[in-house]
Amino acid sequence: MRAAEIQNELTEVLVTEEQILAKLDEVAAQVALDYAGKNLLLVGVLKGAIMVMADFSRALPTVVPMDWMAVSSYGAGTKSSGVVQIRKDLDEDLHDRDVLIIEDIIDSGLTLSWLLENFESRGAKSVEVFALLRKPDAAKVQVDCKYVGFDIPNEFVVGYGLDYAERYRNLRDVAILAPHVYS
Ligand code: XMP
Ligand code: MG
Repeated sequence: MRAAEIQNELTEVLVTEEQILAKLDEVAAQVALDYAGKNLLLVGVLKGAIMVMADFSRALPTVVPMDWMAVSSYGAGTKSSGVVQIRKDLDEDLHDRDVLIIEDIIDSGLTLSWLLENFESRGAKSVEVFALLRKPDAAKVQVDCKYVGFDIPNEFVVGYGLDYAERYRNLRDVAILAPHVYS
């Protein structure tokens, strides 16, 4: 499904599927270099990062283990509550692992800064972040993000894994959700 097919609910396409896939190839090549000889573990943050993880992991040139964590800080709204809840914990032991967190988007940064601290406390050797999208103007805390796909304006976006009330995740592009849909 392309953004053009649901035009009345979206105001603008910000990043197309083609742009995303080209960026994932670029970041994957860099990650392959940076993590050569290391004990890499990809950790996807459910559910928003499912598409990024699927395409990014397959852009890597080698077999790589992956794990998932589900946290929640939003509920059904469009603003972060700042309270992070673990809904599904990791299956893997992080001790001595070089963890790369795969995120859909950094908005306030609250979720990620909590995750970074949490993973470091579990004995990970290193913890870095790849976020496909980042909203620089929405930052409430500074998060050290080693790999960023695209900086975008401070608007609520959907598609490529990102949802509003569980809708739009299967949209191929990233688009701005029309305010009339959620207000
Ligand atoms: P924070 O604010 O903690 O964001 O950096 C954490 C999570 O909130 C979701 N999020 C969004 N989801 N459109 C969405 O569909 C957005 O514009 C948006 N901004 C934040 C997302 O899951 C992120 O990981
Ligand atoms: Mg979400």
